Amino acid sequence: MALTHIVILGPPGSGKGTQAARIAREFGLAHLSTGDMLRDAVARKTDLGVEAETYMERGLLVSDEIIFGLIGTALDAARDTGWIMDGFPRNLVQAEMLSKILEERGEKIDYVLDIDVDSELIVRRLSKRRVCPACKVVYNLDSIKTKAAGICDACGGAIVKRPDDEEDTVRRRLAVYKAQTAPVIDYFRKRSSVITVEGAGDIEEIFAEIRGVLK
Ligand code: AP5
Repeated sequence: MALTHIVILGPPGSGKGTQAARIAREFGLAHLSTGDMLRDAVARKTDLGVEAETYMERGLLVSDEIIFGLIGTALDAARDTGWIMDGFPRNLVQAEMLSKILEERGEKIDYVLDIDVDSELIVRRLSKRRVCPACKVVYNLDSIKTKAAGICDACGGAIVKRPDDEEDTVRRRLAVYKAQTAPVIDYFRKRSSVITVEGAGDIEEIFAEIRGVLK
């Protein structure tokens, strides 16, 4: 599938990152995750990272200006591969800006996926999420376990709980999603079709359903 452009939407913890990584691998796309880009900046303590961290640790969105800087660079790097965008756009300003940027670049979105999961299931899932800060692989103490406890299968690094996965912060992120990000789904529905996927089931079955739609 050459030069395909996919946006994947859904609440925090719905499985966007998990499915986006599989889709990117299957179709040879770049996986553009604004959350991963920001966490990298936080870990490197860049000016952008220091500013972003104050919002991320409270479960709030970082400023649109920071995000636009990251997205422009990421789209340039993915020009020859196509991409799946995970975590962007996050509000209507970002959605409008993405439409404008893509129009200027002569590119368009081919698929918008929306993963739907109940909030209480999300709170339970995120309490068990563990991530590898070094190679970004995402695990779960229930559904995707590492072979050795606490050690990343891919790189041997220590896996950790994300600071924003504490329950209070998850609930704030869900409220922010409802207020600011859910309207983005309607924005896309008015312009093209949105493929809604039930995200409560088995990870591989959800991936098989998405792969069927994309093929
Ligand atoms: P970001 O990193 O984008 O976080 P998020 O959107 O809140 O999404 P998550 O990464 O929490 O969840 P996910 O849907 O990817 O689920 P996952 O696949 O990991 O953003 C973090 C912060 O950065 C934001 O709060 C904000 O501050 C800032 N930010 C980022 N982008 C921004 C933007 N554009 N504008 C402004 N601010 C921005 O799965 C979750 C867990 O469940 C994992 O453990 C996984 O293994 C497991 N799992 C997944 N699917 C299943 C399944 N089907 N069954 C069982 N377990 C499953």
